[in-house]
Amino acid sequence: MIIMVCAHGNNLVIGKDGWMPWNLPSDLKTFRKITLNHTICMGRTTFEVMKKPLPKRHTHVITNQQEYTFEDTNVTITNNFDALLNSYKNSEEDLYVCGGAKIYAHALSICDEMYISLVDEHYEGDTFFPDYSNENFIIKTKEKKEGFTLIHYIRK
Ligand SMILES: NC(=O)c1ccc[n+]([C@@H]2O[C@H](COP(=O)([O-])OP(=O)(O)OC[C@H]3O[C@@H](n4cnc5c(N)ncnc54)[C@H](OP(=O)(O)O)[C@@H]3O)[C@@H](O)[C@H]2O)c1
Repeated sequence: MIIMVCAHGNNLVIGKDGWMPWNLPSDLKTFRKITLNHTICMGRTTFEVMKKPLPKRHTHVITNQQEYTFEDTNVTITNNFDALLNSYKNSEEDLYVCGGAKIYAHALSICDEMYISLVDEHYEGDTFFPDYSNENFIIKTKEKKEGFTLIHYIRK
């Protein structure tokens, strides 16, 4: 299955100047809990901003650069994002799609589930989650947390 994990504001903003527009440690903890011991993927920009790979997860770094390298057994450089997504589409194993904006936009129509941390405020920013109001998701759970609401969507 393909599962997107994202925190967005009420205007769908996800990023500002390369990082998130808010400081929400409780959301980072939630993100860790959801993705720990799983395979995750993220765009090269988000990966580089993080400085080092997230521990206890295998990371696919998505890039168009054929020569891009990163020496770590828990990191795979992946050029063909569609092939990666398709390999998890009907699989028992899960792939957690962790952004940023370009990666979310590419994976939206194929993903099976989403964990959205809704930060219900208007923040200014420069990167946005794609509009998913016309996608066929239903809410499985909705949980009030400190500073955000965690919504688990599954595709109908
Ligand atoms: N709020 C959240 O939950 C959240 C989560 C993650 C990130 N963010 C924010 O999102 C922002 C970064 O997003 P972004 O859109 O600028 O960058 P990004 O999606 O992290 O990375 C973009 C890069 O990924 C590669 N890429 C994207 N689509 C590809 C494809 N189909 N095939 C091959 N490579 C592909 C390209 O790398 P190359 O240039 O190397 O080819 C592209 O330049 C930051 O502000 C970050 O903080 C927010």
